Amino acid sequence: MPNAAFQSRNRELLESLETSRQKKRFLVLDGPLGPIAQVEGVGEVIVLCSNNYLGLANHPEVVEAGIKGLEQYGAGTASVRFICGTFACHRDLEARIASFVGAPAALSYVSCWTANEAVFPTLAAPGDVVLSDALNHASIIDSCRLMNKQVVRAVYRHSDLDDLEAKLQHQADKACRWVVTDGVFSMEGDVALLPELIDICQRHDALLVVDDSHGIGALGKTGRGTPEYFDCLGQVDLLTGTLGKALGGAAGGYVAASADAIEVLEQRGRTSLFSNALPATVACSALKAIDILEREPERMARLASNTAALRAGFARLGFDCPDSPTAIIPIMIGDAADAIAKSNRLLELGVMVIGFGYPVVPLGEARLRVQVSAALEPEHIERCLDAFAQL
Ligand SMILES: Cc1ncc(COP(=O)(O)O)c(C=O)c1O
Repeated sequence: MPNAAFQSRNRELLESLETSRQKKRFLVLDGPLGPIAQVEGVGEVIVLCSNNYLGLANHPEVVEAGIKGLEQYGAGTASVRFICGTFACHRDLEARIASFVGAPAALSYVSCWTANEAVFPTLAAPGDVVLSDALNHASIIDSCRLMNKQVVRAVYRHSDLDDLEAKLQHQADKACRWVVTDGVFSMEGDVALLPELIDICQRHDALLVVDDSHGIGALGKTGRGTPEYFDCLGQVDLLTGTLGKALGGAAGGYVAASADAIEVLEQRGRTSLFSNALPATVACSALKAIDILEREPERMARLASNTAALRAGFARLGFDCPDSPTAIIPIMIGDAADAIAKSNRLLELGVMVIGFGYPVVPLGEARLRVQVSAALEPEHIERCLDAFAQL
């Protein structure tokens, strides 16, 4: 008989989500994810909420590369990296990521969550301070929570350079000062002020860590992410990112940094020392996704023009969307139940967009988060805008 306190705690939470109409609904897809998808019990919908920025999640060459990887390397590594889990495709993928983002070396992980979670517990030491943007991704927050308790943690106001600089001055006695930011903020869609952050970090001899999960393959002329967008390639000390969004969309993440920092992560990082390697199929698919991005930079132009068309359409319809150059377009609603109701109505109208409420975004700042894909055709964009017009 399970513990009664545990049972009633769970029931209470689930009932309160139900009565406040904030319970998340988990849609089941019957087939691959593209510009459209088949949702079980709903039918065909246009996808306006995936991270499939380049339309590579179901690209025939990406799928075929995964199948070949499966045939060549088998189903899995059955091991962590340092025992017998390092395959040739891991080495090739890491070399490719490093050269793609302009870093000396890279290390792959099963997700960007585990990549981020490796960074601070492994690399920050007692006597250091880590300064984190207030809107950083949950995986960065958890990475900071897991680091040595004698590393000072501080949060600076979102993209507030004065606040960051004041905090850095206050921590001038620390052995290493770390500044960590998302490249593209996942809920707001805004871009970190990278040139200014690089300048501040150089002046304060601080290390800059950028999680470019929503920038890689989505920002910059050739998809190299936020550093390319600002012409700052090679100037960030540690870049992390995901392979689970633009670069194939399956799973996987990476850290790209100096050869020594990568070696310390290999030697000491708990999330790779004690957890299996990235499946070979995924590594092979991600490598192919980078090939395609390099071969077809026009995908970036298509993503930008689709984003511009949707932003212009939302503005015409009078929706409140903060401006930014990224493919993430939050439509601010306020109340979580209202955002969820609107997302349900859009689904009925054949468009999949999810409503986000607390704790994913702050209380009272619920929104519909639109995410654009290069795979959308003009006809899809028109149908989406028609649906929003009916909201
Ligand atoms: C900024 C950011 N970092 C990290 C992650 C985690 O990526 P992954 O799905 O590879 O663990 C996400 C995904 O939501 C993200 O948006």
